[in-house]
Amino acid sequence: MKQKTFIFDLDGVIVDTAKYHFLAWQNLATQLGIHFTNEDNEQLKGVSRVRSLEIILGLGNQTASDEKKEKWLVQKNEEYLAYIEKMDESEILPDVKRVLQFLKDNNQKIVLGSASKNAKVILDKVHLTSYFDALVDGNAVSKAKPDPEVFLVGAKLTASTPENCIVFEDAFAGIQAANAANMLSIGIGDKAVLHEANYCFNDFTAISNEFLKELIEK
Ligand code: BG6
Ligand code: MG
Repeated sequence: MKQKTFIFDLDGVIVDTAKYHFLAWQNLATQLGIHFTNEDNEQLKGVSRVRSLEIILGLGNQTASDEKKEKWLVQKNEEYLAYIEKMDESEILPDVKRVLQFLKDNNQKIVLGSASKNAKVILDKVHLTSYFDALVDGNAVSKAKPDPEVFLVGAKLTASTPENCIVFEDAFAGIQAANAANMLSIGIGDKAVLHEANYCFNDFTAISNEFLKELIEK
């Protein structure tokens, strides 16, 4: 059997942390007198922490000094981490573990490719760290998705060519990053949003072991 590198985004692919990001951002927005809805939160998916704050400030037509922004970023992250602290294996999204196990059993490389600087903490909380051959997170890259950097670093760490990598992503910017990296992109979520993906599934329950086998042998 061939060996491929399967790169997983974290937030929205392995766990649904968007709800915790939302709660923490909403608190900050309220404090700043900015109306921030669940719909607005969609814009923050896959986007870096700093850029997320800029988007929220933009919603309220506000600007702020770098000092203030830094303070708010720390405040938001502390609140977010308080939610993460309570996470356990029950928060792993359906069939993620089955897919990871199948790939492991078939000797495939598994990599995390996430914009989050909290990725390691979250993987540890849900006890999935041992599945991964390499972790590439927001601390390891300087350019955010849709830039392909995060995925290209992941390929390099597993000594794989981009053509032999398969990316699972829930964000439009993430699909763009995978395509820009010349990797096979698989959207997890809404086809209407992820229309640039090579394949799209609602979640991992729709991804069979037979399909994974085909991807490996492609
Ligand atoms: C991405 C999320 O995975 O990580 C974004 O989709 C988030 O919503 C980004 O802003 C950065 O995360 P963190 O944990 O470093 O604040
Ligand atoms: Mg995501």
